[in-house]
Amino acid sequence: MRFYEVGGPEVMRLEDVEVGEPGPGEARVRHVAVGLNFADTYFRTGLYPAQLPAGIGVEAAGVVEAVGPGVTQVAPGDRVAYTGSPLGAYSTARVMPAAFLVKLPEAIAFETAAAMMMRGLTSAYLMRRIWPLKAGDPILLHAAAGGVGLIVTQWAKLLGLTVIGTVGSEAKAEVARAHGCDHVILYGREDVAKRVRELTGGVGVPVAYDSVGKDTYLGSMGALMRRGLLVNFGTASGPIPAFDLLQLALHGSLYVTRPALADYIADPTERGQLAAELFDHVASGRIRIEINQHYRLEDAVRAHRELEGRRTTGSSIFVI
Ligand SMILES: NC(=O)c1ccc[n+]([C@@H]2O[C@H](COP(=O)([O-])OP(=O)(O)OC[C@H]3O[C@@H](n4cnc5c(N)ncnc54)[C@H](OP(=O)(O)O)[C@@H]3O)[C@@H](O)[C@H]2O)c1
Repeated sequence: MRFYEVGGPEVMRLEDVEVGEPGPGEARVRHVAVGLNFADTYFRTGLYPAQLPAGIGVEAAGVVEAVGPGVTQVAPGDRVAYTGSPLGAYSTARVMPAAFLVKLPEAIAFETAAAMMMRGLTSAYLMRRIWPLKAGDPILLHAAAGGVGLIVTQWAKLLGLTVIGTVGSEAKAEVARAHGCDHVILYGREDVAKRVRELTGGVGVPVAYDSVGKDTYLGSMGALMRRGLLVNFGTASGPIPAFDLLQLALHGSLYVTRPALADYIADPTERGQLAAELFDHVASGRIRIEINQHYRLEDAVRAHRELEGRRTTGSSIFVI
């Protein structure tokens, strides 16, 4: 799947191309399942830069078919998964840098891996690296019934946190509760900052995890306790407009970070640690990866429309 210009879902085209042989440091991977992420829509619309024409997709799982000179990390026949650049995961097979591949434990199915490399590793750094949260702390988590939302919720409960989650509908509220969300706020109808203050005895939360952006960041700032942290890790409703940093002082000397997964897995040791922790939680059943939408690659246009139209819950994958 490729796109030649940025725009709506219809700019994506399925094409037949020669995959070719891996060069030095590369491996050819035959995909079994491919992840569909909100980030794919950012590349497609031009919010994130891509050199055109571009492939699309940042996450998949499959089997190594061939390796190029100098590759020692993986060998033909290995079950592997990956997340990150270069774009091009929406494909049946591809050649890519072997260093990005992670060997998949037998206990983790290809579909599960394709649904969680991006969302699960993101949840891992959000829970384990961003801020030293302790059992009993409340957190605010937007889009709690989404792909990242359901994984973060389950991880937060393992850490003993109280999860205040926002969702767009009653049906999604049920999904969030079923995965451990303690308090659900319908953000289209309720004042998020006011509800969070009520639920926290007027104090607010130490950390607000906000992947919705434009429509929610003010409510997130209003829900934070003094010197709390706004983690804006996505902009599903649109980018946050520029604002005066004085606002941070007026809301209680707040901190803000706009993190990207790439910076938390750039170091191979740290990536290995986060992946091991994630795989362990998933293999043991402590965290369930909910794949609620399955598509074929040729359905990518519809898949993007459903994701952007807020018609999905949990994770979405393409089955090859
Ligand atoms: N920075 C990072 O490292 C990183 C890595 C991975 C993902 N992310 C971000 O994490 C977020 C979740 O990713 P995901 O793939 O798991 O997607 P997702 O949460 O399954 O889907 C996005 C959800 O956002 C909510 N939303 C609120 N306003 C929206 C709007 N105007 N348009 C579309 N959706 C809206 C919807 O839930 P409701 O209907 O309940 O409102 C929707 O289901 C995304 O923002 C993504 O960019 C960031």
